[in-house]
Amino acid sequence: MKTLYIEQTIEKVGKEIELFGWVDSKRDHKNIVFIDVRDRTGTVQVVGGENFKNLSTEDVVWIKGLVKKRPDKLVNPKLKTGTIEIEAKEIKILNKTKPLPLPVNTDGLEIDEEVRLKYRYLDLRRPRMYKNLALRSKFIDLIRQYLFKEGFLEIETPILSETTPEGARDFIVPSRLQPGKFYALPQSPQQYKQLLMIAGIEKYFQIARCFRDEDPRADRAYGEFTQLDLEMSFVKREDVMSLIESMVINVYEKLKIPLKQKPFPVFTYQEAMKKFGADKFDLRTEEEKKKNIQAFAWVIDFPFFEKTQEGGWTFTHNPFSAPKPEFMKDLLEKKNIGNILTTQYDLVCNGYEVGGGSIRNHTPEGLKAVFEIMGLSNEEIDLKFGHMIEALSYGAPPHGGIAPGIDRLLTCITGEKNLREVIAMPMTSGGKTAIMKAPSAVKEEKLKELGIKILK
Ligand code: AMO
Repeated sequence: MKTLYIEQTIEKVGKEIELFGWVDSKRDHKNIVFIDVRDRTGTVQVVGGENFKNLSTEDVVWIKGLVKKRPDKLVNPKLKTGTIEIEAKEIKILNKTKPLPLPVNTDGLEIDEEVRLKYRYLDLRRPRMYKNLALRSKFIDLIRQYLFKEGFLEIETPILSETTPEGARDFIVPSRLQPGKFYALPQSPQQYKQLLMIAGIEKYFQIARCFRDEDPRADRAYGEFTQLDLEMSFVKREDVMSLIESMVINVYEKLKIPLKQKPFPVFTYQEAMKKFGADKFDLRTEEEKKKNIQAFAWVIDFPFFEKTQEGGWTFTHNPFSAPKPEFMKDLLEKKNIGNILTTQYDLVCNGYEVGGGSIRNHTPEGLKAVFEIMGLSNEEIDLKFGHMIEALSYGAPPHGGIAPGIDRLLTCITGEKNLREVIAMPMTSGGKTAIMKAPSAVKEEKLKELGIKILK
């Protein structure tokens, strides 16, 4: 097993060590050949002779050698290991590489994204991408640590499921056991997390994969993305906001990521529209943008409903939300609909909407009224949401939650321009999986088994 990482070689001056890694670069000076060997922690210069002649960049190597201090004038201050070099005694090529289809020692942003995603396993070799993945791992670790300390349970919810209305199209999966019927992949665990509150869990979270068939944008992944999905019982709007704000401050301070302002400023929807002309906005000055400071804010008091093109009503954010308490009477009586404000709170950072949540309607009458206002018939309500309305009638506690988007938060922290830069294997903008060829055709027998015929 490899026991020494390249960044640790500086502690081994005067010692013989074994190195495993990739040849990052090669400089051939006739009798003496320099290579830089790379692993996930960095690169180190290794000096060899004839035995290095046939090395190519990206070959995988094992090297035994002596760690030596470099003379002062040869120190490279740009390199973590710039004060040392390794004099190779033995070298083995563990795997000889073919020439790569794309360079991996640049930041990669100059390369066509289709090519980068086709060879994502090579693309991820660049230090920038490793750094993003390592940060993502640490970020999720710190979130878990914080929430466990606060008494949350991490619970997984189904992926093969029924449709949940989050405003996008569903991905559907055919059922073999019940031909002609389909599962939907969850757009979010919204309904399951509410059902867990009815189950008495009280504090739930999940690092949840969500599936949405919607047009991709720089801040929107096609297909799937990740939320920190969270729900709590016996809380008010301010309790959820304050928990998430404390979590963000705790995690960002541990990661030494500067925050513009705390507590986070709160704007009503009206104030935000008046001040910024939008419900997501960037509070940073140009100077703060250069320093990549994170500027969080909350937006509250959104209208619950908006008019549809057909002149009916639909929800602005989440049909499972409760109105603000002073509007509950209007909701139940279906009066002054355009004036009803929801308990929805959006978390905004550096111009993105990075999270959203609400206090939920925890009574069957309240939830039913929302769907009635949206013009659903009793039969439709029963078919689509009967299980939720029934569940709310068996002693559902008041509850609320939120779902910050992990990919968007990390896009802000890293200052990347596109959220695919913080996802290991994202889909292309055309909806093709990285590396593999999905979506792909299915054999005729398989379709038959599922009772499906493809129309030309
Ligand atoms: P919502 O749909 O607002 O709410 O999603 C919450 C957060 O998830 C992130 N997000 C996305 N990130 C990347 N790509 C996407 N396509 C994408 N879509 C959403 C955003 C967004 O703020 N169930 C509710 C949450 C709740 O009420 O608890 C929900 O899913 O950061």
